[in-house]
Amino acid sequence: MKWWQKTIAYELYPKSFLDTEGQGTGTIRGITQKLDYLESLGIGAVWLTPVCRSPMVDNGYDIADYTDIDPSYGTMEDMKELIAKAKEKNIRIVMDLVFNHTSDQNPWFLESKMSKNNPKSSWYIWRDAKEDGSAPTNWRSIFGGSAWTWCEERQQYYLHTFASQQPDLNWADEDVRKALYQAANFWVDLGAGGFRIDAITYIRKPDEFKDGVPDADDGMISVHDMTANTPGILEYLYEFKREVSEGHDIFTVAEANGVSADELKYWVGEHGAFDMLFEFSHVNLEFKGVETWCRPDPWTISDLKRALRNSQNATKANGWYPAFFENHDKPRCIDHYFPECSDPSSAAKAMGTLLMTLRGTPFLYQGQELGYRNVAWPSIDCYNDISSIGQYQFALSEGLTEEEAMKCVHTFSRDSARTPMQWDDTENAGFSSGTPWLPIHDDYKEVNVEKESRDPDSVLSWYRTLAEIRQEHSALISGDWTEFMKDDPDIIAYKRKNDEEELYILINLSEKQRTFSTESVTAEHVILNNKDTYEKGSLSPLQCVILAEKL
Ligand code: GLC
Repeated sequence: MKWWQKTIAYELYPKSFLDTEGQGTGTIRGITQKLDYLESLGIGAVWLTPVCRSPMVDNGYDIADYTDIDPSYGTMEDMKELIAKAKEKNIRIVMDLVFNHTSDQNPWFLESKMSKNNPKSSWYIWRDAKEDGSAPTNWRSIFGGSAWTWCEERQQYYLHTFASQQPDLNWADEDVRKALYQAANFWVDLGAGGFRIDAITYIRKPDEFKDGVPDADDGMISVHDMTANTPGILEYLYEFKREVSEGHDIFTVAEANGVSADELKYWVGEHGAFDMLFEFSHVNLEFKGVETWCRPDPWTISDLKRALRNSQNATKANGWYPAFFENHDKPRCIDHYFPECSDPSSAAKAMGTLLMTLRGTPFLYQGQELGYRNVAWPSIDCYNDISSIGQYQFALSEGLTEEEAMKCVHTFSRDSARTPMQWDDTENAGFSSGTPWLPIHDDYKEVNVEKESRDPDSVLSWYRTLAEIRQEHSALISGDWTEFMKDDPDIIAYKRKNDEEELYILINLSEKQRTFSTESVTAEHVILNNKDTYEKGSLSPLQCVILAEKL
């Protein structure tokens, strides 16, 4: 097995981790300072969301220079120091490659937009206006509004899948691809342990750009439905593999929503383009297609079980599963999966157990280990997240009241995942001596690293225990995954088995007291339990247990 299959990964949001400068935003030195903390969680890989030079319209996902550090985070020297110090602790630093688009302040774009015949004129997706002067197609960007913006200098429109400040690169141009691979290799040479590859399903555009049938009253259709996973995309991905990842001891994990199980073999695994692929069916249960916050569908625990079953089974033969329940784009998992929860601590522990015992590499997201909750700020003006603002406006345009639109924001805003780390109960939770860029969650006096480290029953202590158990029980790393009690509407149950042992994991994801037949559960030794007792054949609300046949 590879090192990254045996470890636990941590997604770190640098802007909100630790500020060493009193500026209100986190720094790379802040991360270096807290390596002991990451080590205490059993982490072997830290994925940093983008730290490259950026105007921060989308908090770093709008890159102005792929091989420079944004001054707010520090310097390249700080980065080298982080990579080196982390390595001493067996922690590898994983970079976020944002290759579908750049910032509109990137010198590449500044040059491209000047004329129709400069050396970089075809580096982005430029099109003439329709005869009436309107945008080339009726595509809506992911963050809302048209996916096209008019450029005065060039007298043409450019395409942006996301915000207008994030113009899409033209991957059909070989020079663009070369420049991107060069940027990635810069980080390989610097010692990066791998890459998370952003929004990769959008890089190939269709040959013809056509209007689509509108999916809302604004007369537009989501750009996702018109450009995601365009045939031919794999050619680019295999080229990326040849030019960047092959031959290096690194891993790649692509953000690739909507790749079906039968296509998976082309995407991941020995013959696929990447090592792992973030797939979203289990975190997008309420969105069958495009993620439209004001149109959620109801879902059940059986749907969650089905989504996990599908991806566990699909990655049995192809590739390796990156398990996650939170990331910087999603609400906090306690609120997401248990909106009316009366026992958040048990819910956090149940989700933590699921995360750490599925077959694959767990990706723990900053704050999840503390049991972080969503924020619900009173007005849209309090929000920083560009997508919350877009979704709020879209909800209003669909006829929702302001109150209803705010409810969508409270449920799904990406800012809930981005509030600063709560290190202790001092001012600003020990995150910064300045004014934090996003308000600290008001639960920080109770939910913080210092307090939870002292409490053996805290969510943080639970995660530390889980990390130890993964080390002690190799079946959790290399074992098969076999589900049982498939039809149970509340309990997810599975075995992890390798040559050495067989473990049974039983998690009651409901808030009901449940009994079940113990026929298929032969193990009896409790090695982990989030409640005081475990009675054979019965699980209390949100109870989870790991059972072994022998101790
Ligand atoms: C990805 C990122 C998200 C970002 C978007 C545009 O989905 O995870 O945070 O806004 O791409 O780069």
